[in-house]
Amino acid sequence: MTVENLQTRLAAAAERLDTVMAADLATVTNHRLKEVLEHALLAGGKRIRPLLTLLAARLTMAADQAAGAPAQPPASSGDPTALERLAIAFEYLHTASLLHDDVIDHAAQRRGRDTVNHRWDGSHAILAGDFLHARAMRLAGSHGGPPCLELIGTATEAMVAAEFLQAATARQRDWRQQTYFAVLDGKTAALIAAACECGAAATGGDHTQRRALRVYGANLGLAFQIIDDLLDFLGEPQATGKAAGNDLQEGKMTLPLLLAHERATADQRRWLERLLAAEPAQRRSELPGVRELLEQTGAFAACRAEARGLLEAGRAGLEIFPDGPERQLLQDLGDYVLRRDR
Ligand code: IPE
Ligand code: IPE
Ligand code: MG
Ligand code: MG
Repeated sequence: MTVENLQTRLAAAAERLDTVMAADLATVTNHRLKEVLEHALLAGGKRIRPLLTLLAARLTMAADQAAGAPAQPPASSGDPTALERLAIAFEYLHTASLLHDDVIDHAAQRRGRDTVNHRWDGSHAILAGDFLHARAMRLAGSHGGPPCLELIGTATEAMVAAEFLQAATARQRDWRQQTYFAVLDGKTAALIAAACECGAAATGGDHTQRRALRVYGANLGLAFQIIDDLLDFLGEPQATGKAAGNDLQEGKMTLPLLLAHERATADQRRWLERLLAAEPAQRRSELPGVRELLEQTGAFAACRAEARGLLEAGRAGLEIFPDGPERQLLQDLGDYVLRRDR
């Protein structure tokens, strides 16, 4: 299974999501706000989270059908795009978090364009993010009902708390993997898990189905962020759509650094520790040297192995569902996450 193959199999669903999103954004009346939202949302983006909601919903409905139970369509069944509208709530939430994230991380590039904070300013980014968050809750309330709203509330709280934890780990230069994984649980895994579970919750999934999809999403999310942290060192800006070295500049204690620190000689470790205590611009200028150390210590390979292990655990949890195209796509997404370059 190649990455291209998976993208082809998901292309029709991704296109439908984009159409539903563009139609929804067309209802925004303030000209500037609409311009900012379209800049942030319609510029690219892999649409992983809303695709997960769609696939999880379809998987749950397919399992019910296989068991002879009538499939339960999402809450507002009169609307033929109800499921897509529920799914785009997760793209909105994700994009809201990116708008705010780029202010927090002083990032200038996202999805191959200037960030909103760079092109306009921080207040545009904050307000557009708030708008998307509110619209996401409205969509989730209408098309997923109280269980989805609860999932979104819980995931968003976790994301905010994790940003605080991440800032503290950078300030204190905390080299513990345990803290790193606590950050990942909140900042990435929580939302991806909620996107999956919500697909099941909105289509009448039972407790076991919801849990299986939540656990799958959490594992996928952890692996996804580990690869993102790797791409900060190794990625090509043309592919990722964002600048390399931003995490290093911001002093983030990401897994490639933690693993290199563990495996380095005493001299290398002292160099790395001094660098992490230096000014952001100096850290950024040392990107080639850090890359070399990470390569030499085998930290990149160890990161990939860690991500692979998490993805295998995630895949295994889906075995409770009947085999079929949805389960296969969700399982293949793991390979994609591991091999992605964008
Ligand atoms: C970026 O997410 C932020 C992370 C949690 C790593 P994506 O890599 O899914 O970003 P887009 O949506 O494709 O731009
Ligand atoms: C993205 O996190 C935002 C959240 C997961 C909330 P990062 O700051 O690690 O990701 P990029 O590299 O900017 O996309
Ligand atoms: Mg960040
Ligand atoms: Mg960032």
